[in-house]
Amino acid sequence: MTTRDDCLLRDQRDPLAALRDEFILPADTIYLDGNSLGALPKASVAQVQRTVAAEWGEGLINSWNDAGWYDMPHRVGDRLAKLVGAGAGELVVTDTISVNLFKLLAAALRYVDNKMPERTVIVSERGNFPADLYIAQGLVELFGNRFSLRLIDTPEQLAGAITPEVALVMLTQVDYRTGYLYDMQPVTRMVKDKGAMMIWDLAHSAGALPVDLAASGADGAVGCTYKYLNAGPGAPGFIWVPKRNHTLFRQPIFGWWGHRAPFAMKPEYEAADGIAHFLCGTPPIVSLSLVESALSVFEKTDMHALRAKSVALTELFIELVDKRCAEFGLGIASPRAADRRGSQVSLTHADAYAVKQALIQRKVIGDFREPDILRLGFTPFYVRYVDVWDAVEALTQVLASGEWKQDVYRKRQAVT
Ligand SMILES: Cc1ncc(COP(=O)(O)O)c(C=O)c1O
Repeated sequence: MTTRDDCLLRDQRDPLAALRDEFILPADTIYLDGNSLGALPKASVAQVQRTVAAEWGEGLINSWNDAGWYDMPHRVGDRLAKLVGAGAGELVVTDTISVNLFKLLAAALRYVDNKMPERTVIVSERGNFPADLYIAQGLVELFGNRFSLRLIDTPEQLAGAITPEVALVMLTQVDYRTGYLYDMQPVTRMVKDKGAMMIWDLAHSAGALPVDLAASGADGAVGCTYKYLNAGPGAPGFIWVPKRNHTLFRQPIFGWWGHRAPFAMKPEYEAADGIAHFLCGTPPIVSLSLVESALSVFEKTDMHALRAKSVALTELFIELVDKRCAEFGLGIASPRAADRRGSQVSLTHADAYAVKQALIQRKVIGDFREPDILRLGFTPFYVRYVDVWDAVEALTQVLASGEWKQDVYRKRQAVT
């Protein structure tokens, strides 16, 4: 079995080890929740000072022109595009996943409505992140039930669910609960070969693993920046629409930032060409500037190196849990095959919430997802091999001592 000393040695030899110093992390804390809210990059502390004190404080409204604020959704979008294999001018940083998905799905369904009237079904997964299913349900209602939602229960059911009536398939590449990872290219090809559109949610993939949107042939994608991209709580998300769909898709939120000439102040909406049409209102500049500083950290390495370490961390965690926690009623909900797993490992336990709270008391931070998932994320930038060892040690102690059974650990907080 891998020992703690082995882990220390692996940290010494880790080519990414120095990147941990790019982040501010509380002392004595093992942070295994970067899949939910990434840690704070040091570059962002300096950036917020620049954006708030200098650009806003000194530059005031002139900064829309002088500090490059106006163009930021595009500039930051082009920078982020490189991490997910998107072309320049195809991705903007704006709004939330929920709003971006609404715009994208609505545009795609509108296209289907005009060009493929015989197609009536949207396929997704019952276990998809609820927000995505809610957005789809809202659109089904908005289109007067012209479409219906078909939900599969396992990835294996996908191929069979894509019958000739299917208009569109909407999947999250990495399952938020289990960490199951779809192979984007073959899945997209299968969907497209059957004549349907393919939309991806990259919430748990962007910044976690290499993504090649251009090669995938998908019709659009959305994602967020506050998880593996480390841009901070509530930072804006992104929307990708490939160039070939720019003239085919028309999104329904006619905002002035998506107008051809916002400051012409014309009463009639005229859609901007290209990806600008997918913008709506004034961008949240402070948060957007933190997306930019967070991306600067990614430019010190590459997604393949990050993925290699991420896989090594999750493999080590699974090995140690298997060896040390077998007697405590834990299950492993994540795929054991590394190439089918994102950058998280989810454990099942009948009282997963209480175990998670007891771990937090020991300064090992993960999160809980209904009904019984203890979810631990491994961000290769700042999680060390020795952290994995120490986290499993803490988990073993929490379970062996039964300390999680205390009432205080069962009290549910608003955010789990
Ligand atoms: C897979 C997935 N999709 C969508 C969302 C919703 O994102 P937002 O709140 O930014 O709209 C989340 C949030 O965690 C998510 O994990």
